[in-house]
Amino acid sequence: MEERSSCSCSSSGFLLQLVLALFLSLFLFLDSSMAATAAPPSAPLNTTQASIMKELIAMVPNSAWWNTSDSNPCRWDGVNCSSSNSLSVVTNLTLSGYGLSNSSIFETICSLDNLQFLDLSKNSFINLSPRFFTSSCSMKAGLRSLNLSSNSILMPLGDFSGFPLLEVLDLSFNSFSGSISTQLNSLPKMRSLNLSGNSLVGDVPTSMALSLEELVLSSNQFSGSIPKALFNYRNLTMLDLSQNNLTGDVPDEFLKLPKLRTLILSANNLSGNIPGSVSNVISLSRFAANQNYFTGLIPSGITKNVKMLDLSYNNISGVIPSDMLSPVGLQSVDLTGNNLEGPIPRNLSSTLYRLRLGDNSLNGTIPNTIGDALALAYLELDSNHLMGSIPLELGKCKNLFLLNLGSNELKGPVPDAIGSLDKLVVLKLQMNSLDGPIPSAFFGLANLNTMNLSQNSFTGELPREISKLSKKTKLSVLNLQGNKISGSIPNSISLLTSLIELSLGNNALTGIIPTMPIKLSAVLNLSHNHLSGSIPSNIGLLSDLEVLDLSYNDLSGEVPASLASMQSLTQLVLSYNNLSGSIPIFPGHVEVTDTGNPGLKNGTGDNGKDTTSGKRTHGIFITVVAIAGALVGLCLLGAILMVSYSKRIYRVEDEGSSTEEAVARIINGHLITMNSIHTSAIDFSKAMEAVSNHNNIFLKTRFCTYYKAVMPNGSTYSVKRLNWSDKIFQIGNQQKFGNELEVLGKLSNSNVMVPLAYVLTEENAYILYEHMHKGTVFDFLHAGMSDVLDWPSRYSIAFGLAQGLTFLHGCTQPVLLLDLSTRTVHLKSMNEPQIGDIELSKIVDPSKSSGSLSTIAGTVGYIPPEYAYTMRLTMAGNVYSFGVILLELLTGKPSVCDGIELAKWALSLSGSPDQREQILDSRVSRTSAAVHSQMLSVLNIALACVALSPDARPKMRSVLRMLLNAK
Ligand SMILES: *[C@@H]1O[C@H](CO)[C@@H](O)[C@H](O)[C@H]1NC(C)=O
Ligand SMILES: *[C@@H]1O[C@H](CO)[C@@H](O)[C@H](O)[C@H]1NC(C)=O
Ligand SMILES: *[C@@H]1O[C@H](CO)[C@@H](O)[C@H](O)[C@H]1NC(C)=O
Ligand SMILES: *[C@@H]1O[C@H](CO)[C@@H](O)[C@H](O)[C@H]1NC(C)=O
Repeated sequence: MEERSSCSCSSSGFLLQLVLALFLSLFLFLDSSMAATAAPPSAPLNTTQASIMKELIAMVPNSAWWNTSDSNPCRWDGVNCSSSNSLSVVTNLTLSGYGLSNSSIFETICSLDNLQFLDLSKNSFINLSPRFFTSSCSMKAGLRSLNLSSNSILMPLGDFSGFPLLEVLDLSFNSFSGSISTQLNSLPKMRSLNLSGNSLVGDVPTSMALSLEELVLSSNQFSGSIPKALFNYRNLTMLDLSQNNLTGDVPDEFLKLPKLRTLILSANNLSGNIPGSVSNVISLSRFAANQNYFTGLIPSGITKNVKMLDLSYNNISGVIPSDMLSPVGLQSVDLTGNNLEGPIPRNLSSTLYRLRLGDNSLNGTIPNTIGDALALAYLELDSNHLMGSIPLELGKCKNLFLLNLGSNELKGPVPDAIGSLDKLVVLKLQMNSLDGPIPSAFFGLANLNTMNLSQNSFTGELPREISKLSKKTKLSVLNLQGNKISGSIPNSISLLTSLIELSLGNNALTGIIPTMPIKLSAVLNLSHNHLSGSIPSNIGLLSDLEVLDLSYNDLSGEVPASLASMQSLTQLVLSYNNLSGSIPIFPGHVEVTDTGNPGLKNGTGDNGKDTTSGKRTHGIFITVVAIAGALVGLCLLGAILMVSYSKRIYRVEDEGSSTEEAVARIINGHLITMNSIHTSAIDFSKAMEAVSNHNNIFLKTRFCTYYKAVMPNGSTYSVKRLNWSDKIFQIGNQQKFGNELEVLGKLSNSNVMVPLAYVLTEENAYILYEHMHKGTVFDFLHAGMSDVLDWPSRYSIAFGLAQGLTFLHGCTQPVLLLDLSTRTVHLKSMNEPQIGDIELSKIVDPSKSSGSLSTIAGTVGYIPPEYAYTMRLTMAGNVYSFGVILLELLTGKPSVCDGIELAKWALSLSGSPDQREQILDSRVSRTSAAVHSQMLSVLNIALACVALSPDARPKMRSVLRMLLNAK
């Protein structure tokens, strides 16, 4: 046992959670074994049963069953006995996680006549022995609890009758299939039934005994509407129907379930109003109906009883009832991603710790009563139309650790009091019109990890308080881009020792570049300022830095030779300064842009030829993939198509080792994000559980499959599995792919799906994202997921997409997209697109494909013509694909229509104004003259993007500007 724990200790950091779990189970184990030894010596086991137990050990792989040396099996781990007379009998048997797969063990267990509790969870059974379903299995007569969860049982749900006393049946996380008719009928004592995570179809079953108290049917493919017969289960305390395919209105009869405490309807296709009766079930404390198509208003009094409410990502409209957030005892309210309007209610409960109202159309000001919400830990009000200033009283919410007010219309100065929220980990105020100085106290926030104040109008100098920061600062992302900050960068910036990204671009900074924090690894952006002096040679010490942008300043002198030795550098932007001398020789993979420095000479040795042409830049951009090929890769050892989705992560492959070791070996989870909301919520084993069930699939793209995973705290994440079977995924090693994901994980743009964590196994790669999926652009545009999309939504999609692409191409390390189509752009809401699958160009090696790039890059209709003869992904190629998406938005037609590529069709009609008219989607273009003229402007942009010659296509940055002008 000592050995076990020290072995766990030596596991590396990413296994932290697992290690904790291990310790926990170890202690639980100690606990139970001590309890067993501490108990009075039990009477000897009935000899028949003793021999059955001996038979059983033989069936458990090599000594995995601990502590079986005792002569009395009643003292073995997981065994409990009771004795009525002088002999005892086995009543409890727990063989969980022992790698059992041979179902003949059921034959043996069937003879343990007095068994009451049987737990065979987390093994690898793929079926149950036939005897189990017959009356000759005498064990069934007395069994009260049966747990077969987390196995790989692949069979139709058989007839489970014949357990006259069974109260608890847990069959979750297997692959039971078929529909349910009478299989669960004759279980008269049933209290708890868990069928979650199987492949069951058909109607929600209602044939179980009325004694049922807990019914969990989540993550199956049950369809139809919620049956009224469910409301006959008057003793129900827990009802979880989430993640199925349920449709229609929800019967408004919850008053018939007076004991209901938890009701989960999340992630179905339910519609109509949120049933008002839910408001009046006094015992109900948790209600989740997120990710459906509910419409109408929030029912009044919904939080009278409910303490944890999640109605996020529906189509709920109207105002938030004024008393909704006030009840004492209220804990969590999530209304993100609806169509709510009007103000935020003024009455706020002092117990509310989580309030998410982002992504609605709320207006008015942030109420100054916000200070009454003393327990608030998460506050997200982003992406609304909130106006006015940030109230002083927010400073009273001392427990806040996430504050996101981004993308609103807030103005005025930020109250100093916000700087006294010492627990803050994430502070996001970006994209507002805030002005005045940045409160110096922000730099005293000891727990702050991310500060994003970009795209506001902050003035004044960078607070000198930066110098007061001690080494304990945790700040890792500081983004002040796009403000009006003046003065010099304080020398003490180097004390921000945890900083990995520093973006100070587009301000009015002057003076010289001081010594930079040594850990900077993602981006150092000082562009578009008035910095002068020379580039300090100690920047060359930033060996982890990947992108260095010093463009558009007044820097002079020579480019220090030390820059050429920066090991991680991939992009160096020096353009538009007054640099002189010759440029050092950089390794081939570093993209150097140096235009607009008349005094600068080429340092590559080829006769001092001027390099301001940018030709080199271009050449380097287009070889990104090839470089990625050298740098990045993935272990394809035995990259065989995963044999079956239902393969359990808990399967123990090596019978000689304990389950924990096996799990440790299989779940190789890495957190990328440092956002504590995610780090605390993400549970890798849950994620793996989710991907082992194909019911959780919500999207498949050319290369990827997306699953929905619900974490133990109830939050939902998307898990993407890369279909490694494709041989074009290049051979390399996992470490390098991990590094690449870490880099992508540091990107921050609301229009890009950024990885939060990943799991690499020998056969597959899984990447975790925030789950914000409403559907893809394709779904909304072509698959009838909505009525005809109106022009403002289409324009917002185009604009957001252009922002995301511009960002990927330019703002940080350039990322090219391998597969950009309406199917790979996800919608967070009807007008907020997110670009997915950004990592593909890093891991797909075009040279591994049999044909040209056009046979692998992306989706037919989006592939630029030149890919047919080049082998390189290019930015111009991405612009082409973007142009096709614009055309889809303009025409409402798919990328290939009647066998003709949309781009070719549009180009053929682009000659005359009359013909151009025919290109536009008349359902939309005729709505108003303004819309019509805007669509014509956007059509011009689209046609430029799909120009046959890559050189003729605009850069994304210009596209973005043109789109803005077209508005
Ligand atoms: C031992 O248990 C078996 C059932 O498992 C029972 O048939 C038998 O009578 C018991 N023997 C004694 C001596 O109690
Ligand atoms: C058997 O297990 C059940 C459920 O875990 C527990 O409540 C009961 O106390 C156990 N019985 C014995 C005899 O230990
Ligand atoms: C519901 O629970 C009550 C109290 O525990 C019990 O008396 C009653 O028999 C249960 N109803 C059914 C249908 O089992
Ligand atoms: C879910 O329901 C929809 C509409 O009723 C149906 O078209 C679709 O095939 C169903 N999906 C599954 C997996 O049953």
